[in-house]
Amino acid sequence: MSKIIIANWKMNPATHGEAKSLCLATIEVAKKFENVTTVICPPFLMLSGCAALVAEAGSAHIKIGAQNDFWENSGAYTGETSPQLLKDSGVSYVLIGHSERRALGETDEMVNKKVLATLAVDLTPVVFVGEKEKGETRQDILIDQLSQDLAGVTSENIKKLVLCYEPVWAISSNSGGISDTPENALEAMKIIREIFVKMFLETGQEISILYGGSVNPENVAGFFNAGFSGVVVGSASLDPKKFVEILKIAASEYGFY
Ligand code: PGA
Repeated sequence: MSKIIIANWKMNPATHGEAKSLCLATIEVAKKFENVTTVICPPFLMLSGCAALVAEAGSAHIKIGAQNDFWENSGAYTGETSPQLLKDSGVSYVLIGHSERRALGETDEMVNKKVLATLAVDLTPVVFVGEKEKGETRQDILIDQLSQDLAGVTSENIKKLVLCYEPVWAISSNSGGISDTPENALEAMKIIREIFVKMFLETGQEISILYGGSVNPENVAGFFNAGFSGVVVGSASLDPKKFVEILKIAASEYGFY
């Protein structure tokens, strides 16, 4: 299975002009690594523009992701954006339950509704889970989050979903760039797989689990070696020089580079 590398631009860059330059630079590097799925997640207003640039490049392994969505497809929901409209804008992936959204009040119940609505229009949800503080009872937190976030997802649909283990304390804006260790993240991956086996029995081993939290060219290989299916890259995705190094390492595992 090809590695999934997600570029989460968050609320960056500041202008359409800069977003276009960053998107073109990202496409330029990503297009060389056909065995890696690169997902570019710009802010909402830049989604269509970036989707058009990706379509022009004609590289099927480069996808567009949204950083959030809503659980209804139309109606009186001021300020929200529907999964259907995202799909119509060229989006393939949707990040759901990122800790920066949870910090603004998104609950597990809301995450669950978004996951179901996103799957219903055939987009791929990337569901974020992880403990806030280092040393917290991680197992209980992961059980709690996953059982609520994925309630009602069918065994068939679970295969379409991607999970990201992102210890909140390791995100660069919280930690000053100190990631989790691959060994510690591997323990979390094992816990997630165990929870999956209990929740979804036969599909327990098939889920793609990504790591997120201060990923950079120096530490990314450790997470691949630990068995993660990919990574979510925040601040380093804004620097094409760093991002290309991450893609090179993701691709090299398969002998392409
Ligand atoms: P970071 O962000 O790589 O800057 O830590 C990751 C994320 O929050 O998606």
